[in-house]
Amino acid sequence: MTERPNDHAEIWEGGLRADLREILFDTPTIHSRVIEIGRAITRDYVGKVPLLLGILKGSYPFMADLTRAINLELTVDFMAVSSYGAGTKSSGVVRILKDLDRAIEGRHVIIVEDIIDTGLTLHYLRENLRGRGPASVEIAALLDKKAVRKGKELEDMRARYVGFECPDEFVVGYGLDYKGRYRNLPFIGALRPEIYS
Ligand code: IMP
Repeated sequence: MTERPNDHAEIWEGGLRADLREILFDTPTIHSRVIEIGRAITRDYVGKVPLLLGILKGSYPFMADLTRAINLELTVDFMAVSSYGAGTKSSGVVRILKDLDRAIEGRHVIIVEDIIDTGLTLHYLRENLRGRGPASVEIAALLDKKAVRKGKELEDMRARYVGFECPDEFVVGYGLDYKGRYRNLPFIGALRPEIYS
C-alpha cells in the first residue's frame, strides 16, 4: 500500500493534534471502511459507469480514497456549496458556489459528501440534481450525525452508503474543517470546545 501521511506519526505530535479533545476515527479505521464502501459500490454498479460527484471542499480526501477503491469505469465531477457561515451551525440556506461541469442526464450519480448533520445540504442537492434527469441519485457520506435529525423534519434523510455514525459533536479532519482549518489531519477527531466557543 502507498505510504500515507499518518505512517509518519511524528508529523502529528503536538501542533494541530493538540487542538483535538479526542480522535474518534483513526486513519486505518477510516481507510478500511472506505475500502468496504468502494467494494459495495463496485458490486452495486457493475455494468454501469457511475458519476462520483464530490461536494467541495470537505469531501476531497474521501473522494480521492473512495474513487481509488472502486474497480469500475467511472467519471468524477465536483460541486461547491455553502450551507454554513464561518461558525459551527448550519445556516439553513444552501448556495451553489460551483456547479457541475457537465450535464448528468441519464447518468448514475453518487453524491460524495463528508458528513450529514441536519441533512439540509444533501436534501437540497439531491432534489436539485433529480431535476436534471439523471438515471439515479444516491449518496455516499463518510459520517452521519443521525441523532441530530431524530424527531425532526429530515429524519428520513439518509445515505445509501455511510462510513460511520458520528456523535453530535463538532468534528474535524480528513476534509472536515473549522473556519477552513484542520482539513489536512489524516484522522477525524472532536475539536476542543474552547476552540470554537
Ligand atoms: P447539514 O446541511 O447540516 O447536513 O451540514 C452539512 C455540512 O455541514 C457538511 O458538508 C459540513 O461541511 C458541515 N458540517 C456539519 N457538521 C460538521 C462538523 O462536525 N464538522 C465540520 N463540518 C461540519
